[in-house]
Amino acid sequence: MSANAPHPIARDLLNWYDGNARVLPWRAPPASAAPDPYRVWLSEVMLQQTQVATVKPYFEAWVARWPDFEALAAAEDGEVMAAWAGLGYYARARNLLKGARAVVAEHGGRLPTHEAELRAIAGVGDYTAAAIAAIAFGRRAVVVDANVERVTARLFAIPTPLPAAKPEIRAAADRMTPDVRAGDFAQAMMDLGATICTARAPRCLLCPVAEHCMARAAGEPERLPRKLAKKARPVRYATIFWLERAGQVLLVRRPDRGMLGGMRALPTGPWADAPPGLADAPADAAWRLHEHPVEHGFSHFTIICALASARADGHIEGEWWPVADIESAGLPTLFAKAARAVKETER
Ligand code: ADE
Repeated sequence: MSANAPHPIARDLLNWYDGNARVLPWRAPPASAAPDPYRVWLSEVMLQQTQVATVKPYFEAWVARWPDFEALAAAEDGEVMAAWAGLGYYARARNLLKGARAVVAEHGGRLPTHEAELRAIAGVGDYTAAAIAAIAFGRRAVVVDANVERVTARLFAIPTPLPAAKPEIRAAADRMTPDVRAGDFAQAMMDLGATICTARAPRCLLCPVAEHCMARAAGEPERLPRKLAKKARPVRYATIFWLERAGQVLLVRRPDRGMLGGMRALPTGPWADAPPGLADAPADAAWRLHEHPVEHGFSHFTIICALASARADGHIEGEWWPVADIESAGLPTLFAKAARAVKETER
């Protein structure tokens, strides 16, 4: 079966991509042999909620340590969680491990190549399944992330606000997606969105598909896509406890379910709608409250944490970590901020 002629937008965009693709560590050069599926899967999961620049060093360190599904499937849970520390959305790391173990146990160490089978793997949703099928296996799949959404909404001047516009945008992306090189096409859309068709100040003079762009023809492409006003993020409160003894600080492992599940952490009391004070402190001690709270933004709420520190006398069961080496404990950003605040007040 011969492929249909590509949509003119795909044709012009792929020509541009051939000379302008970003060089990224998980990528194969345009129109070359497909990249390693393990690297595609890992990078796409890391890129789900995180910027390319942030992902790069994590990706490099990860593949140096766990270069394939077998290596990752055999890794210690705690080490995998610590390697993810700072990337956020920690369910992704738990799912990567689950996914790698399923690939080894159920698929002989190789990813399945169809979208539907890929979606059955932990942590692989519609977007990631389409991205892997297209980029790693050269299948025709419609890959829509936030960059692709923005570029497509502009090319077709789709006035409906997000998220209601998603089906319309997807249908338009489907019409553009070529039968061959769907993976390169998806990544070309992402590169265009990241470097030229940017959210606030699109560089239309450099755009390889400007002549096809209905938003540009109408003027003010930066006004698309429209978005419904976001609700303000609610605020939650907690107290972080810094308990120190002989140059070491008490750490805990958070429960597998819930926020920051499975991560090494500083002890906290309850996370609540009002400041919980010293409730559930890990020891009876002379707690001193720091002047400034530690704030951190999660996807669905902001947390404001009082920071309480004390010295322990007596024996307290738990994991004690050298304060001087706290950066290597693999703490998620909220607790890394708290540790920095303690160190700064004591300097
Ligand atoms: N964002 C998500 N996946 C990507 C990829 N493969 N290349 C560039 N940016 C991306």
